[in-house]
Amino acid sequence: MTGIRLTAPAPGWAIDADVVVVGSGVAGLTTALRCAAAGLDTVVVTKARLDDGSTRWAQGGIAAALGEGDTPEQHLDDTLVAGAGLCDEGAVRTLVTEGPDAVRRLITTGATFDTTDSGDIALTREGGHHRRRIAHAGGDATGAEISRALVEAVREAALHTIENALVLDLLTDAEGRTAGVSLHVMGEGQHDGVGAVRAPSVVLATGGMGQVFSATTNPSVSTGDGVALALRAGAEVSDLEFVQFHPTVLFLGADSEGQQPLVSEAVRGEGAHLVDATGTRFMLGQHELAELAPRDIVAKAITRQMHEHGTEHMYLDARHFGAQMWEQRFPTILAACRAHSIDPVTEPIPVAPAAHYASGGIRTDLRGRTTVPGLYACGEVACTGVHGANRLASNSLLEGLVFAERIAADIAGTRPPRTEPAEAASEGGDAPVPLLAPETRTAIQRIMTRGAGVLRSAASLAAAAEELEALHRSAAADVDAADPKDAVPGVDAWEVTNLLLVSRVLVAAAREREETRGCHWREDRPDRDDAHWRRHLVVRIAPDRTPVVHRTETAAFPPVRAAD
Ligand code: SIN
Repeated sequence: MTGIRLTAPAPGWAIDADVVVVGSGVAGLTTALRCAAAGLDTVVVTKARLDDGSTRWAQGGIAAALGEGDTPEQHLDDTLVAGAGLCDEGAVRTLVTEGPDAVRRLITTGATFDTTDSGDIALTREGGHHRRRIAHAGGDATGAEISRALVEAVREAALHTIENALVLDLLTDAEGRTAGVSLHVMGEGQHDGVGAVRAPSVVLATGGMGQVFSATTNPSVSTGDGVALALRAGAEVSDLEFVQFHPTVLFLGADSEGQQPLVSEAVRGEGAHLVDATGTRFMLGQHELAELAPRDIVAKAITRQMHEHGTEHMYLDARHFGAQMWEQRFPTILAACRAHSIDPVTEPIPVAPAAHYASGGIRTDLRGRTTVPGLYACGEVACTGVHGANRLASNSLLEGLVFAERIAADIAGTRPPRTEPAEAASEGGDAPVPLLAPETRTAIQRIMTRGAGVLRSAASLAAAAEELEALHRSAAADVDAADPKDAVPGVDAWEVTNLLLVSRVLVAAAREREETRGCHWREDRPDRDDAHWRRHLVVRIAPDRTPVVHRTETAAFPPVRAAD
């Protein structure tokens, strides 16, 4: 391990813009396109290539009340039930009422969804939905189609994009307002090395943090960069303890680490059954929706079965679909299974839960504003309040779309003037930040999987906290020996540093929440405790870089206001 001071080296180049959007999934690219359409000079920066984020991997689809007889009110009800008492009803109402038109505008932007014989959008079901409400594309390649359409639209609109660019710091002006980002661009291109995009509005749309755990459906770029950056800039994050574990991830062996293939809930939506090794369906009688119960309930049921049977996985049986339906409706999943020598047409698929989605994130209001003036967050990196303790399936692409449009409207409406950056924003100023060796990534993932995975306890969380603090301390001890001023860390080192910070905050929140609710499952506190815990945990980083956890008074968030 080595140390480095947080403040990035002085930028070697700088460009000016009205808005800089960090991230290139559905949330980032929609924000950028809408900002540009409103006449704002917009720059998109992304850590890898434009289409390398999580959006591309989304299978099931995008939920919206588009079908005959469906209404935003019914979508709202299902979202609130899945969220286990912690959704912000106003945020959910915004999502479900603005959602259908946002999907129609996505279609106008160029995305093509699957249709029925009569030409209507084909809709499927997923966990927690009482109706067919999920629009899909290419069968089970919805995210890939949305990503293709948005990347193409960004190229057509000739937006300024900077790929392979890791954002190091948020820049602020003399009044403490956001003034852009410093970034490190790797590889050939117009810009190279450390530079800055100076802009009075910064939108973080960096996606999730699934790489905190050993096995996840998230791609390797999902390292919690946006949450870590926002924390370092003094922003509040909330609900980080609610990590959603997807119930049906293709089981490739207990030692399989990194990104794992997803088997979409839509497979259950079309009638697949969860069974044990004897072929018995175990979701019957557990919930009125059986295999289509909300995701947390199904993930828990599978985990319990695994413990009872002493096995490492259960099975998803969809042999009755037949070859033709598998090939037409689920070509991506079929190919992934066959690539691992499993044929879902003739055998049940081995599945187990794996980390999938961060229901919490950087706290925002309904215009996407964070507690740092000029800083917005959108998509998985944000906590708008729509997901509560457990996101309803396929609400995430919708959230990205709806809140991207709201953020663009807010920036276009306020048009803050450009100002000169004064410094990199960093709680603790020049205080050294431990920068970890890339090899530490696996150690963090194993600590988190053991201590803060699908099933947690006070003891497992305490052990995880201790191990994470030891990593933090030992890196911090090396800091003073480092020459801080011009060291430019590589992407791997920054990613691992970000993973450690978000892991520490996640564990701090999970220790505090002494109950079981939604996707936070405490073995030692097995019941939901509304009397004490119908409230959120909001976390900030103190100047000495320890997480400070604050409980809200009620399930409603206090208004977002600039951090003091
Ligand atoms: C899936 O297709 O099962 C994933 C959908 C989601 O995470 O919302």
